[in-house]
Amino acid sequence: MSAYEQLIKSGNKFFLVLEDLTNKIMTSKYNPLYYHGALPQFYLWVLFLSGLLLFAYYIPTVDNAYLSKGIINAWTSVEYINDKIPFGAVVRGIHRYAGDAMVITILLHAIRVWFTDRYRQYRWLQWFSGIVLFVMVLFIGQTGYYLVWDERSLALTRMTVYALEGVPLIGPGLKSWFLNGDTISNYTMSNYLFIHIGLSFSLLFGLWIHYVRMTRPVMTPPPAINYVLMALVLVFVFMFPITSGKMATLNGTPPTGFEMDWFFLAPYALMNVVPSVLVYWLIVVGITVGLCLLPMPWAFLIKEPPVEAAEVVLTKCVGCNLCYLDCPYQAIEMVPAPANSRFKLLATVMPYRCSGCGVCVGACAFDAIDLPDLPDANVLAQVKQIMEAK
Ligand code: HEM
Ligand code: SF4
Ligand code: SF4
Repeated sequence: MSAYEQLIKSGNKFFLVLEDLTNKIMTSKYNPLYYHGALPQFYLWVLFLSGLLLFAYYIPTVDNAYLSKGIINAWTSVEYINDKIPFGAVVRGIHRYAGDAMVITILLHAIRVWFTDRYRQYRWLQWFSGIVLFVMVLFIGQTGYYLVWDERSLALTRMTVYALEGVPLIGPGLKSWFLNGDTISNYTMSNYLFIHIGLSFSLLFGLWIHYVRMTRPVMTPPPAINYVLMALVLVFVFMFPITSGKMATLNGTPPTGFEMDWFFLAPYALMNVVPSVLVYWLIVVGITVGLCLLPMPWAFLIKEPPVEAAEVVLTKCVGCNLCYLDCPYQAIEMVPAPANSRFKLLATVMPYRCSGCGVCVGACAFDAIDLPDLPDANVLAQVKQIMEAK
């Protein structure tokens, strides 16, 4: 067994022990590990809702807006939300901490599917789209920090400009796309807001790709888990209220440091320690591409013999739909039966999608589907052998 396979095996064992322990404490019905994909999905809805409320009062400018109310720019509008709008500080805190919670739960979800070996072969698309979603979530979070227009926003903006400018050939174009012009201006803030909201909505499309090849993905935790997830966020909102730094001033002394949010801003810490922008991009792009390619067929670190797809015995199939509903890989289609058949539909397997998992064999009450690699007779013989050995 290779070192990689050993790692996956140990990770799997760890999750089994953790699962068992959590079941003892919370019962299997409320075990969050059984809703690992649904946890970030829940926080995404919380972010959409709280973001919508913040958007109602947010002003995306660096100067000169709405002088009459004292709200002259993004920073003052955020202060207004925080201090003057009823529950504004709570909504802001929920938005911030739900973002952090989303990153934590995405990492938990990704580590679980990786260690339970459900990331490759027929799940490569879920893994690949998951990495793209994660990168998008990180960037959305970073643009959230730019929007506050405090000293941290300015420092992050300058660091991002520095990193983008350093990209060979397209650097200057990236810089003017990012700033929405040549320098930081009101247009820059509108661009940040556009990216922040636009990318957030694009997550829905990414998630559609993430879910499309899954049968009945578990997207919603039971209400009791939702309450706990929300309560956890609220504990942080009240214990560690969110505040902005000093208002950014374009011509003032540049800030030397800022409060760090490791969940979103870790790439900036990396930028600070690498010797050049090129090395920074090589590391960031290298890690992202490497993770995306991890489950690709030619990069499989775990070798497996080719799979023989399940086969429907058409003379026995009654078109009941059960195998179609149960196949986890959407590898079964119900097609119109020939005119001389007594039934309207018959099942057919799409071999390129079939993982040979055998779920359909168990689902069929008519013995009408079989795995050529593992015929029923062999399974029965194996079960008999095990029973006799006991
Ligand atoms: C926006 C963030 C994400 C959300 C909301 C999300 C949500 C989900 C949900 C609801 C499922 C179905 C789980 C089930 O039915 O048991 C799922 C499956 C999956 N996700 Fe994600 N996911 C996200 C990010 C990721 C990331 C970052 C990865 C890995 C890099 C990933 C990899 C997978 C894989 C491989 C599956 C299939 C697992 C299986 O067959 O049991 N996802 N995801
Ligand atoms: S063996 Fe059956 S249930 Fe499993 S993937 Fe193939 S068709 Fe679907
Ligand atoms: S479960 Fe069996 S009988 Fe029903 S559609 Fe599938 S193969 Fe046909």
